[in-house]
Amino acid sequence: MSPPEVVASAPEVTVVAIDGPAGAGKSTVGRGVAAELGVGYLDTGAMYRAVTVAVLRRGIDPDDDHAVASATRSLDMVIDDRDGVTWVSVDGVDATGEIRGSEVTAAVSAVAANSAVRAELVERQRRWVRDHGGAVVEGRDIGSVVFPDAALKLYVTASPRVRAERRVAQSGGDVDEIEDAIRERDRKDSSRTDSPLVEASDAQIVDTTVMSIDEVVADIVGRLRR
Ligand code: DC
Repeated sequence: MSPPEVVASAPEVTVVAIDGPAGAGKSTVGRGVAAELGVGYLDTGAMYRAVTVAVLRRGIDPDDDHAVASATRSLDMVIDDRDGVTWVSVDGVDATGEIRGSEVTAAVSAVAANSAVRAELVERQRRWVRDHGGAVVEGRDIGSVVFPDAALKLYVTASPRVRAERRVAQSGGDVDEIEDAIRERDRKDSSRTDSPLVEASDAQIVDTTVMSIDEVVADIVGRLRR
């Protein structure tokens, strides 16, 4: 008699979803939590930025939905978080600095509003997390769309003024202008039709307006330990 067939079920992977507007401290919180859990960290904003790099390098109009979608599907993109930096390569060429440039920042909202781009990237994000055996994943739609069953969902936010002040402390600039740009990007991210920035109904809200980001990491890690 042959032994009973063993059906191997894939172990559940742990996913922590971190959503929220730009500049609220998601990356610092995400990396701190990932280090504590001993899992990888995926910055999905870097993926939308990587697509934007490819679009601009190829001279495609970011508003040309069809051309942008087809560029995304054929894109060779490698994302790797090391030493507090998300390293990105686009079609075999390093784009780590380029993804943060002002040209990319100005064009990325149009690319992120493209439904075919979102469908392709959501698929790649799920595969990345599966291949890495779980992760802390940061973005805008992670708890609401990409991983609705995440073990923990955090919505990290802060007032636009505080976010602008932190940006100025980091890389200089005019605080009023930066605050205006932040408000405009929030408006675009929250008002697009496909997967707008929203708080998932079961997300824990983490407001870093008054708490420092380090205090927030300590607080979340404490909760995870308990
Ligand atoms: O977090 P970030 O600023 O690097 O994100 C870049 C852009 O991508 C921003 O316009 C929001 C968008 N984005 C998104 O639509 N969905 C995600 N999961 C992550 C980022």
